[in-house]
Amino acid sequence: KDNIFLYLSNGEWRTSTSGKVWKEYSPCNGTEIYTCQSCSTEEVNQAFHAAATSQVMWAKTPLWKRAEYLKQAAKILRLHQDEVANCLMNEIAKNRKHALSEVVRTADLIEYVAEQGMRMSGKLMYPDSFPGQKRNQLCLIHRVPLGVVLCIPPFNYPVNLCASKVAPALMMGNSVVIKTPSHGVVSCLYLAAALHLAGIPPGVVNVLTGKGSEIGDYLVTHPLVNAISLTGGTHTGISVSKKAGMIPLQMELGGKDAAIVLDDADLQQSVASIASGAFSYNGQRCTAVKIVYVKQQVADALVNGLKEQVEKLSVGSPQDNADITPVIHHSSADYIEKLVQDAIQKGAKQITPFRRKDNLIWPTILDNVDKNMRVAWEEPFGPLLPIVRVNSEAQAIEMVNKSSMGLQASIFSRNVEAAMSIADLLKTGTVHLNGQPARGPDHFPFQGWKDSGIGSQGVLYSLEAMSKIKSIVIHFA
Ligand code: G3P
Repeated sequence: KDNIFLYLSNGEWRTSTSGKVWKEYSPCNGTEIYTCQSCSTEEVNQAFHAAATSQVMWAKTPLWKRAEYLKQAAKILRLHQDEVANCLMNEIAKNRKHALSEVVRTADLIEYVAEQGMRMSGKLMYPDSFPGQKRNQLCLIHRVPLGVVLCIPPFNYPVNLCASKVAPALMMGNSVVIKTPSHGVVSCLYLAAALHLAGIPPGVVNVLTGKGSEIGDYLVTHPLVNAISLTGGTHTGISVSKKAGMIPLQMELGGKDAAIVLDDADLQQSVASIASGAFSYNGQRCTAVKIVYVKQQVADALVNGLKEQVEKLSVGSPQDNADITPVIHHSSADYIEKLVQDAIQKGAKQITPFRRKDNLIWPTILDNVDKNMRVAWEEPFGPLLPIVRVNSEAQAIEMVNKSSMGLQASIFSRNVEAAMSIADLLKTGTVHLNGQPARGPDHFPFQGWKDSGIGSQGVLYSLEAMSKIKSIVIHFA
């Protein structure tokens, strides 16, 4: 309305009465791109009341009907995939190829959730498999909805990582209140619009826009919140987990995903996987390769291969489908630059020179990184790849396990058995052998250990996370 995007509450697109608006600026040139509502705490209340009221009816909606709504939403998303992809390019500077891929992947995800959700069945148990018991009871076990799920997606996947929360929540009979991310607001609103246009009843899907600093705490501590699913920075996740109280939490937070390259690795494959893993979407992925531990014997060959690969990456605008585009905010670019400066001051070697123009940072490889440098432990969330040369696998394992993060890791070796034995020792939710870290495909389990998250994502795991077990025990005379 008047080129100001509305928020969705109880089935209506509304203008906030707060009198304030939320402006989004382009990461590419700082110009104002979209204006949205800055919702008030009263509007948060209204959304939660609508969600709680509608959830009772929604839980009684047959599974096939819920699945039909989701499939219709996926269809609408596909019809508007180019519009949504343009939004992603404008809002988060995701290049054209990856922006379109996010939208298509999201429609695929929603359809997969609908199918899998219809096949969630219960279980029967009898007592007499337990010592001393008789066959005189019948335990009926099934899963029921949690109620109202607060969904908080991140800026780097405002469509896909919103749907990865919302679709399972809806399929299991919950209603949702979505808090749009700091960037990618309108892309997220497009997803909500697809769900709304699919005919999902009023109040089941609600979307609030505005500053986390103004409504964030109010949202996560709201008495009508029955669960929170959040993807975001570790600091945010830890803060929310302390405030949320006794409700289920599903969290995907930061990562310091390591690539461990052994001396028998296929170097060509390692270079291709690490370069893609480190620099796809400018390294602004929690599963990006954020540090390399390479055995001394093959380090020079790996570094030279990475240099050659990285120098081929195009740098520019998302609309031109450049490989490297501006990072999300000048504060991000400042942080990345500080990590580079710290490392260089402490002896790191620039394999590709650090170069920056506003939010645009050219892909940077730092060699001879050691544990005294901040970049060995911190998450740049940018196109920066530190390389640590090690003399043994044990040294690499020790550094990986010392990290406060525990999302994913990759091991490159031709000896799968040896790699498996290292994988068993790594304190991360997932280990990839001879491949780059990744959350997808979206039905695989995806979990962060330590400060990288709580619980698992992935279609079946999210359907389970968005529900709880109810058992009914029938006693026989
Ligand atoms: O940072 C978001 C995380 O989910 C990355 O997903 O698919 O790029 O590995 P993906």
